[in-house]
Amino acid sequence: MACQENMFFIGLCISSVNFGLSSNDLFTTMPETMNAVSDTCVQLPCAFQIPDGHNISFSSARNVYGIWLKGKTDSNILFNSSNTGNSLGKITGNLSEKNCTTVFFNVTTSYTNKYYFRIDTNGQYRATDIEKSVTITVIDSPEQPNMTVLGDIKEGTPLSLNCFAVAPCPGHPPKLKWTLPTKSTPVNKLQENPDRTKSVLSTVTFIPSYLHNEKNITCTAVYPVGMSNKTAEHTRTLHVLFSPKNTSASISPAVPGSVGSCVNLTCSSTANPPVTNYTWFRISGGKTTQVASRRTYTLNVTVGDGGQYYCEARNDQGVEKSQEVKLPGQRNPEVWWIVGGTLVLVLLLIVIVFFGWRRKSKIPNGLERTVNPPETAPAREKPAEPVENLPEEIHYGEIDFSRQRPKKTQAAAQDRERDLGKESEYSEVKVTRGRSQDQEPLVNELYAQVNKTGAL
Ligand SMILES: *[C@@H]1O[C@H](CO)[C@@H](O)[C@H](O)[C@H]1NC(C)=O
Ligand SMILES: *[C@@H]1O[C@H](CO)[C@@H](O)[C@H](O)[C@H]1NC(C)=O
Ligand SMILES: *[C@@H]1O[C@H](CO)[C@@H](O)[C@H](O)[C@H]1NC(C)=O
Ligand SMILES: *[C@@H]1O[C@H](CO)[C@@H](O)[C@H](O)[C@H]1NC(C)=O
Ligand SMILES: *[C@@H]1O[C@H](CO)[C@@H](O)[C@H](O)[C@H]1NC(C)=O
Ligand SMILES: *[C@@H]1O[C@H](CO)[C@@H](O)[C@H](O)[C@H]1NC(C)=O
Ligand SMILES: *[C@@H]1O[C@H](CO)[C@@H](O)[C@H](O)[C@H]1NC(C)=O
Ligand SMILES: *[C@@H]1O[C@H](CO)[C@@H](O)[C@H](O)[C@H]1NC(C)=O
Ligand SMILES: *[C@@H]1O[C@H](CO)[C@@H](O)[C@H](O)[C@H]1NC(C)=O
Ligand SMILES: *[C@@H]1O[C@H](CO)[C@@H](O)[C@H](O)[C@H]1NC(C)=O
Repeated sequence: MACQENMFFIGLCISSVNFGLSSNDLFTTMPETMNAVSDTCVQLPCAFQIPDGHNISFSSARNVYGIWLKGKTDSNILFNSSNTGNSLGKITGNLSEKNCTTVFFNVTTSYTNKYYFRIDTNGQYRATDIEKSVTITVIDSPEQPNMTVLGDIKEGTPLSLNCFAVAPCPGHPPKLKWTLPTKSTPVNKLQENPDRTKSVLSTVTFIPSYLHNEKNITCTAVYPVGMSNKTAEHTRTLHVLFSPKNTSASISPAVPGSVGSCVNLTCSSTANPPVTNYTWFRISGGKTTQVASRRTYTLNVTVGDGGQYYCEARNDQGVEKSQEVKLPGQRNPEVWWIVGGTLVLVLLLIVIVFFGWRRKSKIPNGLERTVNPPETAPAREKPAEPVENLPEEIHYGEIDFSRQRPKKTQAAAQDRERDLGKESEYSEVKVTRGRSQDQEPLVNELYAQVNKTGAL
């Protein structure tokens, strides 16, 4: 077969293998096999050569007929090109130019066979190439188109897809249609294959995105068959390489427990190839620190783990950061008790000190106003001292009591009343005693003072 490709090899074949064999007076070039779709045509590309010694007699022949044989002998003729109006097929090539291209019309599955080519120049020159045959296979459904991908499929990198469908009947070639995850305009052309058969090639180019990963793409070949169509398709799944996408960080449980409980920080991402590397970072006090390099970062919560956390997902295509998630600051429950207790104690102290101060600050006021006059008095005996307190107490009681009553509880008010009563009583006793000790004018004066101040 290779021998027939050019003259050098033809010479080689004759000299080495076929020289002297009368059966090799013809060398044909045609595909070894051809697939055809039933009820359509099949065009068989064919060419032949006549050995040099016989070329003159061939060229001088007036009529050249081409005959297709089912088998190597003349006994089973498919058709003889001399029979014009033959419905089985037609030699469309110019036999004088050694072109034996033949179209078989409307083939059926019964055509499936091995065929040999024979030349007949009206008896002057006859030869069959018994070394070369073509096997025609007629099938009811067309062959699946062939889809090829040029290069790696990476997001953002233009991708070219080829779909290739045989066109055994080039007069009615198949139409190729694409089912793609994105819009793209295909470029179709009828092309000749190395064995001179024809095929339709369709090329689409688009830029894949990560959303196209795992999506199916289909190329459908539609063969016109009589009044209808026959289809064949090829589907493949796109595997798009892409850097991590939809990277997110989550906390479990959503509301972290107290110190000593476990919190899972989990990073999720999609990538192709899958994420190889997850890294956790913590932002605290304006500083970012790497805390883990696993998908799930499990924290045994300690005081001071609070802060913003985010993760990074990486594969060989790139890297992506998640949003930040907040892990609330934690306090030791014991700390809460201590802080709470201290606060209550401090409050209590403040209250005590405040009331103590208030009580004391009122006393000097009363003294200044009411006790000064008696102090000027010459008589100053020890038993008389309580007398000095008397007006003060009454004065304080009167003013304070009237002011404070609405703020105090009933019980407190009564207590206060009772206390005041006691003091008044006590003072009364003192006063009585003071009176008996010949200090009547002073006491009277004191009473006057008290009444005056009380009225004020
Ligand atoms: C083909 O037809 C031609 C013309 O009728 C005839 O001369 C030739 O012998 C035929 N060839 C065969 C193999 O029948
Ligand atoms: C042979 O003939 C066919 C049909 O006419 C044509 O398409 C083809 O190009 C020819 N081959 C050569 C080598 O000229
Ligand atoms: C076939 O080729 C020969 C030689 O080149 C030419 O004379 C003849 O007209 C051609 N026949 C057809 C039908 O084209
Ligand atoms: C092809 O042959 C089938 C039966 O052999 C026939 O029914 C059909 O009409 C034919 N089609 C054409 C286009 O000749
Ligand atoms: C599809 O193409 C591949 C590689 O190019 C090849 O091996 C295979 O035979 C082809 N299949 C068809 C049906 O053309
Ligand atoms: C993609 O095609 C495969 C077979 O090629 C099929 O199993 C799968 O269900 C298809 N997927 C979709 C999303 O159509
Ligand atoms: C056959 O396919 C062609 C192109 O795809 C379309 O235009 C035509 O309507 C189809 N015919 C039938 C009968 O389905
Ligand atoms: C944390 O993750 C571990 C396994 O990764 C699991 O056993 C545990 O239950 C998770 N804890 C929480 C609180 O989600
Ligand atoms: C957390 O750590 C503390 C002390 O390191 C330990 O006592 C406690 O059992 C740990 N908790 C968990 C859930 O691992
Ligand atoms: C993961 O990423 C970190 C930071 O970029 C790097 O230090 C580490 O080596 C990586 N690990 C793997 C297994 O690639």
